Amino acid sequence: MEMTRSREYVALGRQLLDQLPLEAGEVHIWVAVVGEMPDDELSAQFDCVLTADERARHGRFFFEKDRRRYAVTRSLVRYGLSRYVPIVPSDWRFDATEFGRPIIANSHPAIAGLTFNISHSDHVVLLGVTRDRQLGIDVEDLQRRTPLDVADGFFSPHEVLQLRSLPADLQPARFLDFWTLKESYIKARGKGLSIPLDQFAFDLSGEAGLRLSIDERLGDAPEHWTFWQWRPSADCLSALCVENKPCVTTHVTVRRIVPFVSETQATFDVLRESSK
Ligand SMILES: CC(C)(COP(=O)(O)OP(=O)(O)OC[C@H]1O[C@@H](n2cnc3c(N)ncnc32)[C@H](O)[C@@H]1OP(=O)(O)O)[C@@H](O)C(=O)NCCC(=O)NCCS
Repeated sequence: MEMTRSREYVALGRQLLDQLPLEAGEVHIWVAVVGEMPDDELSAQFDCVLTADERARHGRFFFEKDRRRYAVTRSLVRYGLSRYVPIVPSDWRFDATEFGRPIIANSHPAIAGLTFNISHSDHVVLLGVTRDRQLGIDVEDLQRRTPLDVADGFFSPHEVLQLRSLPADLQPARFLDFWTLKESYIKARGKGLSIPLDQFAFDLSGEAGLRLSIDERLGDAPEHWTFWQWRPSADCLSALCVENKPCVTTHVTVRRIVPFVSETQATFDVLRESSK
């Protein structure tokens, strides 16, 4: 089902939006393709939705492609969060943890337990939203440069072995498999690169499965998390990491969105999923 909105809906940036239920166990992923945002919409949203600080940061990006991606990201986050909490999109305010993870600074009862995470590649911006548990998401363009030497220096020995034992032409794709999964985990933990990348490892030896092992120094256990690897669009790869909660079954829903313009239900085409 597609909902197409006309340009005057840019004014939604200053209005409450229709509320979307988010039940226990639900994970909503919003996918915005940067190139799908019409220029006139983007500049209208820029004026209407972004804060002065955001507009100043936008102006500091050197390349137009980075400015555009940044504006789409800010619109997506503001629009997306306003679908769950009756706060006007332009009113959201954010702080950051000591590790750089954005946290909501507004106060409203519906914010309690709301968790979100953002990832952007050159072409796609993802927003993941859930309740009462942690979530991390990462997206990478399949055509991006793959610094294989980073794996040699920072991945776990088991991951390096799995990667380097492949034929050379298959290594870049496998590198991105590991990279996105590792990013999704460190983002779900919220501690960024303060988590040593060689203290947790993914085993991707099965056809469509994956298995995490965690060094006891990290004080965590693999059964705390479920991972999915999927393609939000043909030219990118994403990994999603969601915290498990007792007696709650996770259900992931994907929406393709042009913020404030259109929303379309999309499929969640899973390539790999963690073994149960
Ligand atoms: C910041 C980091 C969390 C993600 O960075 P990234 O992969 O370059 O970028 P992404 O687009 O996936 O994610 C950026 C978003 O993550 C969020 N983020 C920032 N710090 C975060 C943290 N500590 N925890 C969770 N999310 C965080 C922010 O929302 C940010 O977007 P914003 O600045 O527009 O708000 C961190 O992992 C990092 O610096 N990575 C560098 C890349 C690297 O070396 N990766 C090793 C992979 S194995």
